[in-house]
Amino acid sequence: MQKLRIEGGRRLAGRIPISGAKNAALPALAATLLTEEPVRLERIPGVVDIRTMIRLLEALGASIEESNGVKTIDARALGEPVAPYEVVKTMRASSLALGPLAARCGRARVSLPGGCAIGARPINLHLAGLEVLGARIEQEAGYVEAIAPSGGLRGAHYVFPRITVTGTEDLMMAATLARGVTVLDNAAREPEVVDLAELLTKMGARIQGAGSSRIEIEGVDRLHGAEHRIIPDRIEAGTYLAAGALVGDGLEIDGLEPSHLGAVLEKLEQADVKLERTGPTTLRVSSNGRLRPVDVTTEEFPGFPTDMQAQWMALMAFADGVSHLVETIFENRFMHVAELRRMGVEIELSGNRATIRGGRKVGGAAVMASDLRASACLVVAGLAAEGATTIDRVYHLDRGYESLEAKLTAVGASVERVR
Ligand code: EPU
Repeated sequence: MQKLRIEGGRRLAGRIPISGAKNAALPALAATLLTEEPVRLERIPGVVDIRTMIRLLEALGASIEESNGVKTIDARALGEPVAPYEVVKTMRASSLALGPLAARCGRARVSLPGGCAIGARPINLHLAGLEVLGARIEQEAGYVEAIAPSGGLRGAHYVFPRITVTGTEDLMMAATLARGVTVLDNAAREPEVVDLAELLTKMGARIQGAGSSRIEIEGVDRLHGAEHRIIPDRIEAGTYLAAGALVGDGLEIDGLEPSHLGAVLEKLEQADVKLERTGPTTLRVSSNGRLRPVDVTTEEFPGFPTDMQAQWMALMAFADGVSHLVETIFENRFMHVAELRRMGVEIELSGNRATIRGGRKVGGAAVMASDLRASACLVVAGLAAEGATTIDRVYHLDRGYESLEAKLTAVGASVERVR
């Protein structure tokens, strides 16, 4: 199995370009199932989760072409609307195919996702919402099937009992082809939801309110082809900003969207990180030598993202004092704690609250990645630790970070892939 070996303490200078957002590209790819016409998507990141989604689209009958980094997805002729276990088991976001398939084909059969490292993560709210739109839900042999009534899905009012990002996206897609108006309340407000609404609107959907907690969708008879450029990855940007806060020396993070990073930038400033806006989509970050401890509680957008919690913990390991981190979105997203402890970081865990005693020596060690963002946390810690860190199970990183070693090496880090 491949490992990443990082020699800590190198100062980083130069420019890191930010890729398209994995979590916006995944629903955009699923949305192409809603139309018989080709959809052109720009800035789709080259990461494993995207390749998995493309495999799923191909299994469903779509054809995909790539030229100059632009992907054209043609879902004219779909086969059986079934998302098989072999694909879904490796990526929960496959459940994003449910809504589009139920809307376009009148039926969708998707393997139930299993547990995942960061928590149970059920899809009950996707299913409850589809039921409100008139679908009959059946479960057997590890699959869930959504069957639309004979006249197709019907617009309806659904209040999410808790906020779900992909649940909002799934139902928004289903509602675009439903008869009548759908109102989704307590919807997710993440930039990825807004980006999907923009793509769907270009495809002919009628959507109001994306980015607020109430989204209204007026169903149309059909959607058409479109061209769309995916938003930049705010979590990738945040991860490199965290690295720059520790070892940056005028490190430029380029091609990000500052308005998507509000809560993260605010916390970085509170921690006394030197941040400078050098262009509309560029931030320059430098290590200050000293970092103030800053408490963080994860929340839905516009709050501090759970996908930055692990990287924040790495940062706080180097801060001058005690900080607290509360995780409110996922019940088991602290697997990086045991690994950071191996690097000498003192962390106490109590339920969903971590207390980090920063400022002690952090030394390189052999550590194990357990999920995507936990791996990113270990990379950030490794870049600033004394000595070498070897991160095992690096395939977790490959699911969501495009060209991580190349990007870091280009700005002066010592990062290499070893067996
Ligand atoms: N939940 C339910 N029932 C549902 C759906 C969600 O109980 O039907 C619960 C989940 O178990 C969780 C909470 O609601 O406790 C929020 O989950 P959400 O549905 O919002 O998560 P998701 O849509 O599955 C997306 C991102 C995650 C990110 C979360 C939260 C994608 C493809 N994934 O997941 O990204 O952590 O939103 O912001 O968009 C990552 O990129 O590393 C990652 C895990």
